[in-house]
Amino acid sequence: MSQAMMKLVTQHNECDDQLNRCEAALHKGDLASAGRNFRLFSEFLDSHFALEENKLFPAFEKATGMTSGPTVVMRGEHAEIRSLRDEAYAAIEANQAQQALAVIDTLNVLIQQHNVKEENVLYPMCGGSILNLDAALDFGSTCCGSCS
Ligand SMILES: [Fe+2]
Ligand SMILES: [Fe+2]
Repeated sequence: MSQAMMKLVTQHNECDDQLNRCEAALHKGDLASAGRNFRLFSEFLDSHFALEENKLFPAFEKATGMTSGPTVVMRGEHAEIRSLRDEAYAAIEANQAQQALAVIDTLNVLIQQHNVKEENVLYPMCGGSILNLDAALDFGSTCCGSCS
């Protein structure tokens, strides 16, 4: 697995960890902590989705010419995940811990299903078609490494 793919997978795990912290706080009835952790989760999620939607997907579409394939499905799933994220946040803001936990359960399922598809199908397809994935994602330089 390339450096870029490992970073994308790490971002998935960081989002999961942050959402788990929020859930744990909700179970304890600590809504202030749940809110803080949820906002962080939301920031991680937004920056990961932005990287995929603005860099990874366009690079894949350009490299393969597939503009109505898997990236369209992934963008659609991002929209569903964002909408559930907003619903969960509204419940937390309204101090409705049980409602927030119920929405987060569904959110978690959607995120896991989405990440499995990316990690097992889309990322390997990107790795096989985009010539320099690290550069496409602005991860480090295209340098040989011997000059650093
Ligand atoms: Fe995604
Ligand atoms: Fe992703």
